[in-house]
Amino acid sequence: MQFQLNEEQLMIQKAARDFAQQECLPGVIDRDENQKFPKQQVMKLAELGFMGMMVDPAYGGAGMDTVSYVLAMEEVSKIDASVSVCMSVNNSLVSWGLEAFGNEEQKQQYLTPLAQGRKDGELYIGAFLLSEPEAGSDATSQRTTAEDMGDYYLLNGTKNWITNGSSASVYLVMAQTDAAKGSRGINALIVEKNWPGVTVGAKENKMGIRGSDTHSIMFNDVKVPKTNRIGEDGFGFTFAMKTLAGGRIGIAAQALGIASGAYELAVNYSKQRKAFGKEIMHHQAIQFKLADMATRIEAARLLCLKAAWEKDQGIDYTLSSSMAKVFASETAMWVSTEAVQVHGGYGYVKEYHVERLMRDAKITQIYEGTSEVQRIVIGRQILK
Ligand code: CAA
Repeated sequence: MQFQLNEEQLMIQKAARDFAQQECLPGVIDRDENQKFPKQQVMKLAELGFMGMMVDPAYGGAGMDTVSYVLAMEEVSKIDASVSVCMSVNNSLVSWGLEAFGNEEQKQQYLTPLAQGRKDGELYIGAFLLSEPEAGSDATSQRTTAEDMGDYYLLNGTKNWITNGSSASVYLVMAQTDAAKGSRGINALIVEKNWPGVTVGAKENKMGIRGSDTHSIMFNDVKVPKTNRIGEDGFGFTFAMKTLAGGRIGIAAQALGIASGAYELAVNYSKQRKAFGKEIMHHQAIQFKLADMATRIEAARLLCLKAAWEKDQGIDYTLSSSMAKVFASETAMWVSTEAVQVHGGYGYVKEYHVERLMRDAKITQIYEGTSEVQRIVIGRQILK
């Protein structure tokens, strides 16, 4: 066992750190306050090869490993989690899903530009459409239907809370074809946003990750060619679960980044701020907080890297990705709240960044499977 990163991984980590400092930090407060989608930052990520990090270069990707992806996600998330969620969804849920389960034509047509993050010089990213108004954690209860019409499916229904909802060009949509078959009657379909019958709903006004682009998407008699179905008939739910297992590594790394970003701010502040005649870092009340933050962050990092390593080794990572996600997201919430506390009144105002990190942390306990869902997955895995 060795705990050292290799040269390439260190290089990627540094590139992501530089990108976050130079491209994400300027304007992050304004983008959060005014809910501006970070298009320029995402285009730059695409240039760096970070929108299809793990995809085979034959399909436009950067061919990096999952460990590198975790490192990059952590660095970007320290500064702007609205940028990193866009990166995570495009990498883990959309590109990985297509590369693992799409056919050659689908990969040529969709994966290649998605992994490059651009097509004809324009932003080209994807979204993952599983959640519905009445199917969040209970994901098998899909109400969106994909009626089998012979050589195409007729898609009808509404999807909720869709990250990249209006900025994506391609949607991977889960829909029920045969209700009698339950979860085995669900299909995963590739749908283009500009097809007739697709409507993008209003942007959600969120607590955190406010720069990220979250919408409902409505489908009204959308004709989806059968050639756009991923895998065999009825494979859609398994597709969603397998894809989400990898997605959870990305969100765990995002949570890790939010936690380490908040921690670094708290450490720096505690070195500058004086109270009772000395810098507050010299007070044990603050030192104990920082010690607990550092310890929990290190534990979260090890869980994230282990899940990523297992994925790279071809080992089943269902258990480790859920453990990483639940632990890292709860760490992010706790650490960012404590970081606000270390800052006192300054922590409660926007200029100091920690209040944003605290708001951003909350969603990591909810999306790509709530903490409760992760515990269901972990419980089933350890008891089977
Ligand atoms: N891999 C492969 N197959 C799996 C699987 C996995 N990890 N997990 C379940 N399945 C299969 C089961 O084997 C079962 O198949 P059979 O019927 O053939 O036996 C089928 O799927 C149904 O599984 P369950 O009986 O376990 O289903 P369940 O109703 O008990 O629910 C659940 C399981 C884990 C709670 C699941 O519904 C779940 O993960 N819910 C959360 C959904 C979620 O994460 N949503 C996030 C939305 S995406 C998002 O947030 C993206 C974004 O924009 C940021």
